[in-house]
Amino acid sequence: MDGSVTSTRLRAHHRAAAPANADAAAVKAQAVPRPDLYGPVHKGLRTFMCETLVAVGRMDADDPAEVAGVLAQVRGLLVLCRVHLEVENRHVHPAMEARSPGSASETAGDHVEHERAFASLESDTQALERVAPERRAAAALHLYRQLAVFTGENFLHMRTEEIDNAALLWQTHTDDELVALQHAIMTDISPADTAVLLRWMVPSLAPIERARLLGGLRQSMPATVFEGMLASLKPHLAGRDWAKLSLALAA
Ligand SMILES: [Fe+2]
Repeated sequence: MDGSVTSTRLRAHHRAAAPANADAAAVKAQAVPRPDLYGPVHKGLRTFMCETLVAVGRMDADDPAEVAGVLAQVRGLLVLCRVHLEVENRHVHPAMEARSPGSASETAGDHVEHERAFASLESDTQALERVAPERRAAAALHLYRQLAVFTGENFLHMRTEEIDNAALLWQTHTDDELVALQHAIMTDISPADTAVLLRWMVPSLAPIERARLLGGLRQSMPATVFEGMLASLKPHLAGRDWAKLSLALAA
């Protein structure tokens, strides 16, 4: 009886072992993901949009210093969103269209709408700066609602890019080509804009993504520049995330 149970367990273990090994091989094969032009950057943009929206919502419209700070953040967000849109227009959409004509038309159309939204949000921001004190709270609420609409629409747009556009790029391009595209995008963004992008992006990533990104950046710049960049990011990272990053970079 015992022997039978034992051998049954052994057979069960043996049966399970083969698929488990196969699964492990499959997981290992997926452990190095294909280059993702969208996901990590979009995590940073989502955080920037959400934090800015919340800041506008709770802003004291009668506190000039606070209004100035929050509106500077709104303008910083619009600058980064524009930079992001322009590099997608210059690099990503042409790469898609070259291999699959028409494939970028949906998100290219969204970008035209986004450019109108940037202008409209800038105009709402200026209106808030110039409005009479008794109408300031109403102007702040208007900006908050308009920014919420922009954020919501942008979330849907980014989902399309991360799922549909990424699938198309993975189908039509090799990893080497996608890495070259990533490199072309990175070198097309000014150092000042890159610093803002990393400030929002790095704290928004999972530890493994953060380590992968910074490990790659370390290879691409002098050690002192990399250390300076790390120091500027540290205040934006939770203590445990900083510890995990330090461990990963030391490995
Ligand atoms: Fe986009």
